[in-house]
Amino acid sequence: MKQLFTISVFIMVLISCSNKQEQTSIANLDSKIENKISDLISEMTLEEKLAQISQVNSSYSYNAGEMKELVRKGIGSILNEVDPKAYNELQKIAMEESRMKIPIIFGRDVIHGFRTIFPIPLGQAASWDMEMIETGARIAATEARSQGVNWAFAPMLDIARDARWGRIAESAGEDPYLASLVAAATVKGFQGKLKDDKNSIAACAKHFIAYGAAEGGRDYNTTIVSDEQLRNTYLPPFRAAVNAGALTVMSAFNEINGIPASGNNFTLKQILRNELKFNGFVVSDWGSVTEMITHGYAADDREAAKIAINAGVDMEMASDAYRKNIQSLLETEEVTIESIDQAVRNILRVKFMLGLFDNPYLIPQEYPELLNKEFLEAAKDAAIKSTVLLKNDAQFLPFNNKFKVAVIGPLADAPHDQMGTWAFDGKKENSITPLSALREYLGAENVIYAPGLKNSRTSIEEGFPDALNAAVAANVVLFFGGEEAMLSGEAHSRGNIDLPGAQNRLIAELFKLGKPIVLVVMAGRPLTIGNQADMAKAVLYAWHPGTMGGPALVDLLWGKAIPSAKLPVTFPKAVGQIPIYYNHKNTGRPAPDNPTTLDVIEEGALQTSLGNTSYLLDYGKDPLYPFGFGLSYTNFEYKNMVLTSSEIGMTDTLTVITEITNTGMYDATEIVQLYIRDIAASVTRPVKELKDFKKVFIKKGETLKIEFKITSDLLSFYNIVGEKLVEKGICVLCWLLCMNGSRLRTVFFIIYAIGLFIRSLSLFEICKYAFLNSLFCINFTSISLLFPAISANFIIL
Ligand code: NOJ
Repeated sequence: MKQLFTISVFIMVLISCSNKQEQTSIANLDSKIENKISDLISEMTLEEKLAQISQVNSSYSYNAGEMKELVRKGIGSILNEVDPKAYNELQKIAMEESRMKIPIIFGRDVIHGFRTIFPIPLGQAASWDMEMIETGARIAATEARSQGVNWAFAPMLDIARDARWGRIAESAGEDPYLASLVAAATVKGFQGKLKDDKNSIAACAKHFIAYGAAEGGRDYNTTIVSDEQLRNTYLPPFRAAVNAGALTVMSAFNEINGIPASGNNFTLKQILRNELKFNGFVVSDWGSVTEMITHGYAADDREAAKIAINAGVDMEMASDAYRKNIQSLLETEEVTIESIDQAVRNILRVKFMLGLFDNPYLIPQEYPELLNKEFLEAAKDAAIKSTVLLKNDAQFLPFNNKFKVAVIGPLADAPHDQMGTWAFDGKKENSITPLSALREYLGAENVIYAPGLKNSRTSIEEGFPDALNAAVAANVVLFFGGEEAMLSGEAHSRGNIDLPGAQNRLIAELFKLGKPIVLVVMAGRPLTIGNQADMAKAVLYAWHPGTMGGPALVDLLWGKAIPSAKLPVTFPKAVGQIPIYYNHKNTGRPAPDNPTTLDVIEEGALQTSLGNTSYLLDYGKDPLYPFGFGLSYTNFEYKNMVLTSSEIGMTDTLTVITEITNTGMYDATEIVQLYIRDIAASVTRPVKELKDFKKVFIKKGETLKIEFKITSDLLSFYNIVGEKLVEKGICVLCWLLCMNGSRLRTVFFIIYAIGLFIRSLSLFEICKYAFLNSLFCINFTSISLLFPAISANFIIL
């Protein structure tokens, strides 16, 4: 009966409607501003327009006299000029000596803090804490603005699935949903109330688009990305940034499917302008206009300028192809004056929105001190919340008394390196290293410091004996390893992502002593630390934690703070597993739970005896640590997961409820993660998709009831022709990831579909869903009944 009912639901319910995407970006143009812009444009000469759509590098590239002349002629933007005095001087020339009196916008790479350096973006993403991320961006904006920067080239929103790629450090990791929230929080933090807010700086969503898909993890490399992947994987964070009001977008260095991103009509016009309704301005990446020649897409800089401006790159960064060539391109009608005016309009709009016309000057006294106590506290809080506890044998951590520690490893006292990549304005003398924080907390007499290695890369082992002696004299070894700042970031990719240099050898020597080791890793990417983690009692992954890394780690080690971070990216066991990411597709032959690996294959086994499934013979199918993983000093028990209904219609909201009890010894924070899987769709869907999470504080012994709302929009995706849809009749698995890696699962059906596209179900599919539904509906809250039923057909990671 139940099956009949289910079938009839599939057959009868054929309601669909088109889904209009809601936009809340700066799309709503202000007519007063638009009129002012029109007046300005009508007065501008072509030379002034071309200056306005150009950005020049500061004193590194021009002497003071040349720079002033460029400003008098109306240059639109300067990058890397970070000096309040120079700012005011140049702005004064723009406002008083240039004919059009248009203020300059000053750009800078303010990526994870300005002077107060926060953890690298990948680390911040591990906090899953949007309030913290917004606060960090706000502080960075305040400090930057106080020094004459009013435009940050951030957030970097490239989905990164390859730990070799150095720029993974700047990203929010591999998940489009998490990265979208990070995008919105960062934009809000930077931009605040825009013109009504002297601490606001313009955000720049970069690098548009798919830059993170660089082949082989080599920076700037070619990307080949289907439209389906582009919209479902790479675009969501940009959409979120635009919806949060991001004023600017940077076009990327890479080519996508044969067309460079800085000359790409499809991505810049069709997607960014038409679909996302972006109304700010697009700046090229550094030299990416003229690099189209090197890509083999433009014959010379004249053609490069033509392609970029016609594709919608409003401002050219660093190179001068626009200034040199557009006049001639207009004469030959290869470029229209309308497209130049449009670029100028987009740039002026941003300058108006940022309040630069009304308040062009900087009044340094109006700003709080750099690195003030509040900012440093926020940076410490961020470092605590970003550090992931990856291992904690028998509750080895936290320590509860003071004793002698051996502080070993190249990152224990590396004030520059703990800031990580893109910390141009951070100063190493302001960093508090683990060594100095430990000396402060434990007393110098309890800290035996012997780094063992001069830096993270060296193979010179002459420091080993001292390090081993230190270990012998101490109760516990604290090994601070990882990568120097230089080993990640732009153009700093690695082919081997082990701990570099002789670190692994040193850890192996220390292990032989039998002293307990706590491994603290500071790095710009996931590192393949499986063997070293095996030798350690506990592992804390601190990324590059920034200015306050030392005190944050001491608080975590001694339990004044409890770890709560979760990985925003999958950690491979070995480079050979890359790309490895949690939200992959299932394939037609997914691997079983424990696939046979080469060490256990019997000699002479038949070729097909392993089952012909998708995994690596040497590494199996699982990563070292999965996305979403992270331990705590306490324990959380998940139970009683229920759904308010087993079906969801177009306008319904379905609620997932679960209970979580803190059964451990510490009050602590847990990040409760909700995943879904659409098990049959017109475009194959990932085996697992993060759809929501809640970061909750639970006292020891306390039970909290957590609710998630699921709407049909949450279940939507893009098909291969760019239509957004939710398909009816689809069974959706839904589960919560528990702390120990186990899962609570349940299931529901979509009974109404929204979207432009409805797929008709074959009789076979209808029967299959009906069958599954009847099984699931026996008791859709009983996980143990559900999962075996489905796991025969679908392997869930
Ligand atoms: C090149 C980088 O790709 C980009 O992220 C950065 O903002 C610009 N250079 C400016 O420094």
